[in-house]
Amino acid sequence: MSAQSITKPIRAKISALGTYVPPRLLTNADLEKMVDTSNEWIMARVGIRERHIVDKGVATSDLAVEAAKRALAQRGLTPTDIEAIIVGTVTPDMFFPSTACLVQNKLGAKGAWGFDLSGACSAFIYSVQAGAQFIGTGAHKRVLVIGADVMSSIIDYTDRATCVIFGDGAGAVIMEPAEDDSVGLIDFIHEVDGSGGEFLYMPGGGSLNPSSKETLEKKMHYVHQDGQQVFKFAVRKQTEACEKLLKRNGLAGSDIDAFIPHQANLRIISATADRLGLRPEAVIVNIDRFGNTTAGTIPLAMSTAIQEGKLKKGSLVMMASVGAGFTVGATLLRWAF
Ligand code: UT7
Repeated sequence: MSAQSITKPIRAKISALGTYVPPRLLTNADLEKMVDTSNEWIMARVGIRERHIVDKGVATSDLAVEAAKRALAQRGLTPTDIEAIIVGTVTPDMFFPSTACLVQNKLGAKGAWGFDLSGACSAFIYSVQAGAQFIGTGAHKRVLVIGADVMSSIIDYTDRATCVIFGDGAGAVIMEPAEDDSVGLIDFIHEVDGSGGEFLYMPGGGSLNPSSKETLEKKMHYVHQDGQQVFKFAVRKQTEACEKLLKRNGLAGSDIDAFIPHQANLRIISATADRLGLRPEAVIVNIDRFGNTTAGTIPLAMSTAIQEGKLKKGSLVMMASVGAGFTVGATLLRWAF
Protein backbone atom coordinates (compact mmCIF):
# COMPACT_ATOMS: atom_id res chain seq x y z
CA MET A 1 0.00 0.00 0.00
CA SER A 2 1.35 3.39 -0.97
CA ALA A 3 2.07 5.84 1.79
CA GLN A 4 0.85 8.61 -0.44
CA SER A 5 -2.87 9.30 -0.38
CA ILE A 6 -4.48 10.38 -3.61
CA THR A 7 -6.88 13.25 -3.06
CA LYS A 8 -10.10 12.92 -5.02
CA PRO A 9 -10.92 16.16 -6.88
CA ILE A 10 -13.84 18.08 -5.44
CA ARG A 11 -16.85 17.85 -7.75
CA ALA A 12 -18.06 21.23 -9.02
CA LYS A 13 -21.70 22.14 -9.46
CA ILE A 14 -23.60 24.98 -11.08
CA SER A 15 -25.46 26.52 -8.15
CA ALA A 16 -27.23 29.47 -9.80
CA LEU A 17 -28.06 30.90 -13.23
CA GLY A 18 -28.79 34.40 -14.45
CA THR A 19 -29.37 35.57 -18.03
CA TYR A 20 -29.82 38.87 -19.78
CA VAL A 21 -30.70 39.98 -23.30
CA PRO A 22 -31.04 43.60 -24.38
CA PRO A 23 -34.66 44.67 -24.89
CA ARG A 24 -34.47 45.76 -28.54
CA LEU A 25 -35.67 43.16 -31.05
CA LEU A 26 -34.42 42.63 -34.58
CA THR A 27 -37.09 40.59 -36.36
CA ASN A 28 -37.05 38.78 -39.68
CA ALA A 29 -39.42 41.47 -40.97
CA ASP A 30 -36.79 44.11 -40.03
CA LEU A 31 -34.09 42.13 -41.86
CA GLU A 32 -36.29 41.80 -44.96
CA LYS A 33 -36.06 45.60 -45.22
CA MET A 34 -32.26 45.59 -44.80
CA VAL A 35 -31.05 42.76 -47.09
CA ASP A 36 -32.40 40.44 -49.79
CA THR A 37 -33.86 37.78 -47.49
CA SER A 38 -37.22 36.46 -46.32
CA ASN A 39 -38.83 35.23 -43.15
CA GLU A 40 -39.50 31.92 -44.95
CA TRP A 41 -35.82 31.41 -45.85
CA ILE A 42 -34.57 32.26 -42.35
CA MET A 43 -37.16 30.06 -40.62
CA ALA A 44 -36.60 27.13 -42.99
CA ARG A 45 -32.79 27.26 -43.19
CA VAL A 46 -31.88 28.43 -39.67
CA GLY A 47 -35.01 28.51 -37.49
CA ILE A 48 -34.73 32.08 -36.18
CA ARG A 49 -37.71 34.42 -35.85
CA GLU A 50 -36.12 37.26 -33.88
CA ARG A 51 -32.97 38.19 -32.00
CA HIS A 52 -32.11 40.83 -29.39
CA ILE A 53 -29.68 43.60 -30.28
CA VAL A 54 -27.98 46.19 -28.06
CA ASP A 55 -28.37 49.93 -28.40
CA LYS A 56 -25.28 51.94 -29.26
CA GLY A 57 -22.92 52.22 -26.31
CA VAL A 58 -23.97 48.96 -24.67
CA ALA A 59 -21.10 46.45 -24.53
CA THR A 60 -20.50 42.82 -23.64
CA SER A 61 -19.55 43.69 -20.04
CA ASP A 62 -22.94 45.40 -19.57
CA LEU A 63 -24.85 42.27 -20.57
CA ALA A 64 -22.46 40.13 -18.51
CA VAL A 65 -22.95 42.25 -15.38
CA GLU A 66 -26.76 42.10 -15.64
CA ALA A 67 -26.65 38.31 -16.01
CA ALA A 68 -24.19 38.02 -13.11
CA LYS A 69 -26.36 40.17 -10.82
CA ARG A 70 -29.30 37.86 -11.48
CA ALA A 71 -27.23 34.75 -10.74
CA LEU A 72 -25.93 36.27 -7.50
CA ALA A 73 -29.44 37.30 -6.44
CA GLN A 74 -30.77 33.81 -7.11
CA ARG A 75 -28.11 32.32 -4.83
CA GLY A 76 -28.42 35.08 -2.23
CA LEU A 77 -24.77 36.08 -2.64
CA THR A 78 -23.06 39.45 -2.82
CA PRO A 79 -20.36 40.33 -5.40
CA THR A 80 -17.61 40.10 -2.78
CA ASP A 81 -18.45 36.41 -2.29
CA ILE A 82 -16.99 35.75 -5.76
CA GLU A 83 -13.36 34.62 -5.84
CA ALA A 84 -12.77 34.35 -9.61
CA ILE A 85 -14.51 35.54 -12.78
CA ILE A 86 -14.22 33.84 -16.16
CA VAL A 87 -15.82 35.51 -19.16
CA GLY A 88 -16.17 33.51 -22.37
CA THR A 89 -16.54 35.90 -25.29
CA VAL A 90 -15.39 36.75 -28.81
CA THR A 91 -16.64 40.30 -28.49
CA PRO A 92 -14.77 41.73 -25.49
CA ASP A 93 -15.47 45.42 -24.85
CA MET A 94 -11.90 45.99 -26.05
CA PHE A 95 -8.71 43.92 -26.41
CA PHE A 96 -7.61 44.94 -22.96
CA PRO A 97 -8.35 45.25 -20.13
CA SER A 98 -10.18 41.95 -20.22
CA THR A 99 -13.95 41.90 -19.94
CA ALA A 100 -13.49 39.99 -16.69
CA CYS A 101 -11.71 43.04 -15.23
CA LEU A 102 -14.50 45.33 -16.40
CA VAL A 103 -17.13 42.99 -14.95
CA GLN A 104 -15.23 42.76 -11.65
CA ASN A 105 -15.24 46.55 -11.36
CA LYS A 106 -18.83 47.17 -12.50
CA LEU A 107 -20.08 44.39 -10.23
CA GLY A 108 -17.97 45.46 -7.24
CA ALA A 109 -16.47 42.00 -6.84
CA LYS A 110 -13.62 43.34 -4.73
CA GLY A 111 -10.79 40.87 -4.26
CA ALA A 112 -11.76 38.60 -7.15
CA TRP A 113 -9.40 37.79 -10.00
CA GLY A 114 -10.35 36.73 -13.48
CA PHE A 115 -9.73 36.44 -17.17
CA ASP A 116 -11.43 36.13 -20.55
CA LEU A 117 -11.58 32.84 -22.37
CA SER A 118 -11.66 32.78 -26.16
CA GLY A 119 -13.52 29.72 -27.39
CA ALA A 120 -16.15 31.26 -29.68
CA CYS A 121 -19.40 29.29 -29.47
CA SER A 122 -17.77 26.75 -27.15
CA ALA A 123 -16.56 29.48 -24.78
CA PHE A 124 -19.26 28.95 -22.18
CA ILE A 125 -18.68 25.20 -21.96
CA TYR A 126 -14.92 25.73 -21.86
CA SER A 127 -15.30 28.40 -19.16
CA VAL A 128 -17.47 26.11 -17.07
CA GLN A 129 -14.75 23.48 -17.26
CA ALA A 130 -12.07 26.02 -16.38
CA GLY A 131 -14.15 27.11 -13.39
CA ALA A 132 -14.62 23.49 -12.38
CA GLN A 133 -10.86 23.03 -12.18
CA PHE A 134 -10.51 25.78 -9.58
CA ILE A 135 -13.30 24.20 -7.56
CA GLY A 136 -11.83 20.73 -8.12
CA THR A 137 -8.45 21.58 -6.66
CA GLY A 138 -9.97 23.40 -3.72
CA ALA A 139 -8.40 26.68 -4.86
CA HIS A 140 -11.79 28.43 -4.91
CA LYS A 141 -15.25 27.91 -3.51
CA ARG A 142 -17.18 30.38 -5.68
CA VAL A 143 -16.40 31.07 -9.33
CA LEU A 144 -18.53 33.28 -11.56
CA VAL A 145 -18.62 31.91 -15.10
CA ILE A 146 -20.13 34.05 -17.84
CA GLY A 147 -20.83 33.53 -21.53
CA ALA A 148 -21.57 36.87 -23.20
CA ASP A 149 -21.42 38.30 -26.68
CA VAL A 150 -22.50 41.40 -28.53
CA MET A 151 -22.35 39.79 -31.96
CA SER A 152 -24.04 42.82 -33.53
CA SER A 153 -20.73 44.68 -33.00
CA ILE A 154 -18.92 42.44 -35.52
CA ILE A 155 -21.69 41.71 -38.03
CA ASP A 156 -21.98 43.26 -41.48
CA TYR A 157 -25.65 44.17 -41.76
CA THR A 158 -25.38 44.22 -45.57
CA ASP A 159 -24.29 40.53 -45.69
CA ARG A 160 -27.41 38.37 -45.70
CA ALA A 161 -25.39 35.19 -45.16
CA THR A 162 -24.38 36.24 -41.64
CA CYS A 163 -26.60 39.09 -40.45
CA VAL A 164 -29.72 36.96 -40.11
CA ILE A 165 -28.02 34.46 -37.81
CA PHE A 166 -26.57 36.31 -34.85
CA GLY A 167 -27.93 38.09 -31.78
CA ASP A 168 -26.67 39.58 -28.51
CA GLY A 169 -27.05 38.01 -25.07
CA ALA A 170 -25.42 36.76 -21.89
CA GLY A 171 -25.70 34.12 -19.23
CA ALA A 172 -23.88 33.69 -15.93
CA VAL A 173 -23.57 30.76 -13.58
CA ILE A 174 -22.04 30.41 -10.16
CA MET A 175 -19.90 27.36 -9.62
CA GLU A 176 -19.36 25.89 -6.17
CA PRO A 177 -18.29 22.57 -4.64
CA ALA A 178 -21.03 19.93 -4.88
CA GLU A 179 -22.23 18.56 -1.55
CA ASP A 180 -22.05 15.00 -2.93
CA ASP A 181 -21.91 13.06 -6.22
CA SER A 182 -25.68 13.26 -6.82
CA VAL A 183 -25.26 16.66 -8.51
CA GLY A 184 -22.58 18.53 -10.44
CA LEU A 185 -20.21 18.07 -13.33
CA ILE A 186 -19.53 14.48 -14.33
CA ASP A 187 -17.36 14.43 -17.44
CA PHE A 188 -16.40 16.38 -20.55
CA ILE A 189 -14.87 15.94 -23.98
CA HIS A 190 -13.26 18.96 -25.60
CA GLU A 191 -11.33 19.21 -28.84
CA VAL A 192 -10.04 21.98 -31.06
CA ASP A 193 -9.22 21.64 -34.76
CA GLY A 194 -7.37 24.70 -35.95
CA SER A 195 -7.46 23.52 -39.56
CA GLY A 196 -11.03 24.86 -39.61
CA GLY A 197 -9.97 28.39 -38.70
CA GLU A 198 -10.49 29.74 -42.21
CA PHE A 199 -14.18 28.79 -42.30
CA LEU A 200 -15.37 31.11 -39.54
CA TYR A 201 -13.27 34.05 -38.49
CA MET A 202 -12.82 37.78 -38.11
CA PRO A 203 -9.61 38.55 -39.97
CA GLY A 204 -9.08 42.20 -39.08
CA GLY A 205 -8.09 44.09 -35.95
CA GLY A 206 -5.59 41.60 -34.52
CA SER A 207 -1.80 41.54 -34.71
CA LEU A 208 -1.88 39.93 -38.18
CA ASN A 209 -4.07 42.58 -39.76
CA PRO A 210 -4.10 45.59 -37.42
CA SER A 211 -7.02 47.95 -38.00
CA SER A 212 -6.37 50.33 -40.86
CA LYS A 213 -8.29 52.13 -43.57
CA GLU A 214 -7.60 49.11 -45.76
CA THR A 215 -8.91 46.51 -43.28
CA LEU A 216 -12.04 48.58 -42.84
CA GLU A 217 -12.59 48.94 -46.59
CA LYS A 218 -12.16 45.18 -47.01
CA LYS A 219 -14.67 44.61 -44.17
CA MET A 220 -12.12 42.54 -42.27
CA HIS A 221 -13.59 43.66 -38.93
CA TYR A 222 -16.71 41.57 -39.57
CA VAL A 223 -17.54 37.88 -39.18
CA HIS A 224 -16.68 35.85 -42.29
CA GLN A 225 -18.21 32.41 -42.57
CA ASP A 226 -18.35 29.50 -44.99
CA GLY A 227 -21.69 28.31 -43.68
CA GLN A 228 -21.80 24.93 -45.38
CA GLN A 229 -18.35 23.89 -44.14
CA VAL A 230 -19.22 24.94 -40.59
CA PHE A 231 -22.57 23.19 -40.80
CA LYS A 232 -21.08 19.85 -41.87
CA PHE A 233 -18.33 19.99 -39.25
CA ALA A 234 -20.80 20.98 -36.53
CA VAL A 235 -23.18 18.08 -37.14
CA ARG A 236 -20.36 15.52 -37.39
CA LYS A 237 -18.19 16.65 -34.47
CA GLN A 238 -20.95 17.63 -32.06
CA THR A 239 -22.49 14.19 -32.53
CA GLU A 240 -19.12 12.45 -32.22
CA ALA A 241 -18.20 14.25 -28.97
CA CYS A 242 -21.59 13.48 -27.42
CA GLU A 243 -21.47 9.83 -28.52
CA LYS A 244 -18.04 9.38 -26.93
CA LEU A 245 -19.16 11.10 -23.76
CA LEU A 246 -22.27 8.96 -23.44
CA LYS A 247 -20.38 5.75 -24.20
CA ARG A 248 -17.63 6.23 -21.67
CA ASN A 249 -20.22 6.97 -19.00
CA GLY A 250 -22.31 3.90 -19.86
CA LEU A 251 -25.26 5.98 -21.04
CA ALA A 252 -27.63 6.01 -24.00
CA GLY A 253 -29.03 9.15 -25.63
CA SER A 254 -32.44 8.32 -24.21
CA ASP A 255 -31.00 8.64 -20.66
CA ILE A 256 -30.48 12.39 -21.11
CA ASP A 257 -33.14 14.53 -19.39
CA ALA A 258 -32.05 17.81 -21.00
CA PHE A 259 -29.82 18.21 -24.05
CA ILE A 260 -28.62 21.83 -24.06
CA PRO A 261 -26.83 22.48 -27.36
CA HIS A 262 -25.30 25.65 -28.74
CA GLN A 263 -28.05 27.35 -30.73
CA ALA A 264 -26.48 27.97 -34.16
CA ASN A 265 -29.01 26.40 -36.48
CA LEU A 266 -32.17 24.41 -35.74
CA ARG A 267 -31.13 21.92 -38.43
CA ILE A 268 -27.79 21.28 -36.67
CA ILE A 269 -29.59 20.70 -33.37
CA SER A 270 -32.16 18.34 -34.94
CA ALA A 271 -29.54 16.35 -36.88
CA THR A 272 -27.44 15.89 -33.72
CA ALA A 273 -30.47 14.94 -31.63
CA ASP A 274 -31.63 12.36 -34.20
CA ARG A 275 -28.22 10.74 -34.48
CA LEU A 276 -27.87 10.52 -30.70
CA GLY A 277 -31.32 9.00 -30.22
CA LEU A 278 -32.38 11.73 -27.79
CA ARG A 279 -35.95 11.97 -26.59
CA PRO A 280 -37.52 14.91 -28.52
CA GLU A 281 -38.83 16.51 -25.33
CA ALA A 282 -35.30 16.51 -23.88
CA VAL A 283 -33.90 18.74 -26.64
CA ILE A 284 -33.80 22.39 -25.57
CA VAL A 285 -34.37 24.90 -28.36
CA ASN A 286 -34.77 28.68 -28.17
CA ILE A 287 -32.91 29.77 -31.30
CA ASP A 288 -36.22 31.08 -32.68
CA ARG A 289 -36.26 33.83 -30.02
CA PHE A 290 -32.57 34.66 -29.56
CA GLY A 291 -30.63 33.57 -32.66
CA ASN A 292 -26.99 32.65 -32.25
CA THR A 293 -25.59 34.65 -29.33
CA THR A 294 -22.26 32.72 -29.49
CA ALA A 295 -21.06 32.30 -25.85
CA GLY A 296 -24.52 33.26 -24.59
CA THR A 297 -26.56 30.48 -26.19
CA ILE A 298 -26.04 27.66 -23.70
CA PRO A 299 -26.86 29.58 -20.50
CA LEU A 300 -29.83 31.17 -22.29
CA ALA A 301 -30.99 27.66 -23.23
CA MET A 302 -30.51 26.55 -19.60
CA SER A 303 -32.91 29.30 -18.64
CA THR A 304 -35.43 28.12 -21.26
CA ALA A 305 -35.11 24.56 -19.93
CA ILE A 306 -35.92 25.79 -16.41
CA GLN A 307 -38.91 27.79 -17.67
CA GLU A 308 -40.17 24.69 -19.51
CA GLY A 309 -39.84 22.58 -16.35
CA LYS A 310 -37.15 20.39 -17.92
CA LEU A 311 -34.37 21.06 -15.41
CA LYS A 312 -34.79 19.83 -11.87
CA LYS A 313 -32.36 18.86 -9.14
CA GLY A 314 -30.69 15.64 -10.31
CA SER A 315 -31.66 15.98 -14.01
CA LEU A 316 -29.04 14.44 -16.30
CA VAL A 317 -27.86 17.20 -18.64
CA MET A 318 -25.62 17.13 -21.70
CA MET A 319 -24.34 20.44 -23.10
CA ALA A 320 -22.71 20.49 -26.54
CA SER A 321 -21.17 23.02 -28.89
CA VAL A 322 -19.13 23.60 -32.01
CA GLY A 323 -17.73 26.99 -32.88
CA ALA A 324 -15.09 28.99 -34.65
CA GLY A 325 -11.64 27.52 -34.37
CA PHE A 326 -12.99 24.91 -34.77
CA THR A 327 -13.80 24.35 -31.10
CA VAL A 328 -15.82 21.34 -29.95
CA GLY A 329 -17.23 20.69 -26.51
CA ALA A 330 -19.54 18.28 -24.73
CA THR A 331 -20.21 18.23 -21.00
CA LEU A 332 -22.22 15.88 -18.83
CA LEU A 333 -23.62 17.00 -15.49
CA ARG A 334 -26.41 16.56 -13.01
CA TRP A 335 -28.39 19.73 -12.40
CA ALA A 336 -28.04 20.94 -8.85
CA PHE A 337 -31.02 23.17 -8.03
O1 UT7 B 1 -22.12 29.39 -34.10
C1 UT7 B 1 -21.06 29.32 -34.99
C2 UT7 B 1 -21.19 28.18 -35.84
N1 UT7 B 1 -21.93 28.53 -37.01
C3 UT7 B 1 -22.76 27.66 -37.53
O2 UT7 B 1 -22.97 26.63 -36.98
C4 UT7 B 1 -23.36 28.00 -38.87
C5 UT7 B 1 -23.48 26.76 -39.70
N2 UT7 B 1 -24.04 27.01 -41.00
C6 UT7 B 1 -25.34 27.30 -41.19
O3 UT7 B 1 -26.09 27.39 -40.25
C7 UT7 B 1 -25.85 27.43 -42.58
O4 UT7 B 1 -24.86 27.00 -43.50
C8 UT7 B 1 -26.29 28.88 -42.95
C9 UT7 B 1 -27.54 29.23 -42.19
C10 UT7 B 1 -25.18 29.85 -42.64
C11 UT7 B 1 -26.62 28.95 -44.45
O5 UT7 B 1 -27.59 27.98 -44.79
P1 UT7 B 1 -27.36 27.00 -46.00
O6 UT7 B 1 -28.55 26.17 -46.11
O7 UT7 B 1 -26.04 26.30 -45.81
O8 UT7 B 1 -27.30 27.99 -47.22
P2 UT7 B 1 -26.15 28.18 -48.30
O9 UT7 B 1 -25.01 28.92 -47.73
O10 UT7 B 1 -25.87 26.88 -48.98
O11 UT7 B 1 -26.88 29.10 -49.34
C12 UT7 B 1 -28.01 28.60 -50.11
C13 UT7 B 1 -28.59 29.77 -50.89
C14 UT7 B 1 -27.53 30.59 -51.63
O12 UT7 B 1 -28.10 31.03 -52.83
P3 UT7 B 1 -27.78 30.28 -54.22
O13 UT7 B 1 -26.29 30.35 -54.39
O14 UT7 B 1 -28.27 28.88 -54.04
O15 UT7 B 1 -28.56 31.06 -55.22
C15 UT7 B 1 -27.32 31.78 -50.72
O16 UT7 B 1 -26.88 32.91 -51.43
O17 UT7 B 1 -29.22 30.68 -49.97
C16 UT7 B 1 -28.71 31.99 -50.19
N3 UT7 B 1 -28.76 32.72 -48.93
C17 UT7 B 1 -29.85 33.39 -48.52
N4 UT7 B 1 -31.05 33.55 -49.09
C18 UT7 B 1 -31.94 34.29 -48.42
C19 UT7 B 1 -27.80 32.84 -48.00
N5 UT7 B 1 -28.25 33.58 -46.98
C20 UT7 B 1 -29.51 33.93 -47.28
C21 UT7 B 1 -30.49 34.71 -46.64
N6 UT7 B 1 -31.68 34.85 -47.22
N7 UT7 B 1 -30.26 35.28 -45.43
